[in-house]
Amino acid sequence: MFTCTGSEANDLAMRIAKAHTKAEGLIVTRFAYHGVTESIAQASPSLGRFVQLGKTVRTVPAPDSYRVPPEEQGKAFAAGVSAAIADLRAHGVQPAALMVDTVFSSDGIFTDPAGFLNEAVAAIREAGGIFIADEVQPGLGRTGDAFWGFMRHEGLVPDIVTMGKPLGNGHPLAGLAIRPEVLAAFGRECRYFNTFGGNPVSMAAGMAVLDVIEREGLMANAQRVGRHLRTGLAKLAERHTLIGDVRGAGLFVGLELVTDRQARTPATAETVRVVNGLRERQVLLSATGEHANTLKIRPPMVFSEVNADLLVETLDQVLAGL
Ligand SMILES: Cc1ncc(COP(=O)(O)O)c(C=O)c1O
Repeated sequence: MFTCTGSEANDLAMRIAKAHTKAEGLIVTRFAYHGVTESIAQASPSLGRFVQLGKTVRTVPAPDSYRVPPEEQGKAFAAGVSAAIADLRAHGVQPAALMVDTVFSSDGIFTDPAGFLNEAVAAIREAGGIFIADEVQPGLGRTGDAFWGFMRHEGLVPDIVTMGKPLGNGHPLAGLAIRPEVLAAFGRECRYFNTFGGNPVSMAAGMAVLDVIEREGLMANAQRVGRHLRTGLAKLAERHTLIGDVRGAGLFVGLELVTDRQARTPATAETVRVVNGLRERQVLLSATGEHANTLKIRPPMVFSEVNADLLVETLDQVLAGL
């Protein structure tokens, strides 16, 4: 199904999930962002405390490869989801869905170890809910090794995938892929139409995007340049103790800044200075995560090794000048 924005795709995904499961509960991560409609803003805790969470929404700690050992990651995330299911039920609410951004963009960018989502997805399904993969940020080849973020996690097949942002490369185009059996109840019971969703101009834009990704080998480019970039950043970490962690996949890279490497204390104030220092030198990026101390590096898919070197050199200068 096609929509015009990612928010609309997530909103529709929840309506479909509720029709399918006859349940209401939604589980998201603690600093998630999923969009702007009323129901989805209520499931987007990163919007801040003045946007209240919905009564049927529960949050769970996101995976954190910097602080949780890899072998415990899947269990820890699943334990959070199970606790959220129990809490929903304690309040008389049955779980309808677990919705996650599959690289946890707004929680701080967590991609590893591959496989850490599987146990949590099993838990939501066992409880009668479905798994919605929000691919609005990681989708369309950005992670380099797979076209969708969820594909990093072997054998993981979502019940609904939502997509947007890069799908039209600037043109407002978003949508959902849905298992037919998950869509059946909504298709039968709910009237639905969308004036601009799936219009011929948007479809042409989307087809052109897919053609360019394929023709210009942009997924392989994301993998190659992303690796080069992470290597450059890891070298910087040898000289700048503010850098605590370099992580990510393809051209979705997180650089976590800490004031104390032992205690892994978030360097929130320093991160703002780094973002602004980079901006003054014409390098635009932002900070992500609950403590806003992870540089979110998500450049255009045509980013080159030369561009990556410029980014690393500029960051080097900014860090040296702090
Ligand atoms: C993970 C994620 N989901 C959904 C959205 C909402 O998409 P849109 O801004 O197109 O409504 C965003 C936008 O930033 C996003 O990052």
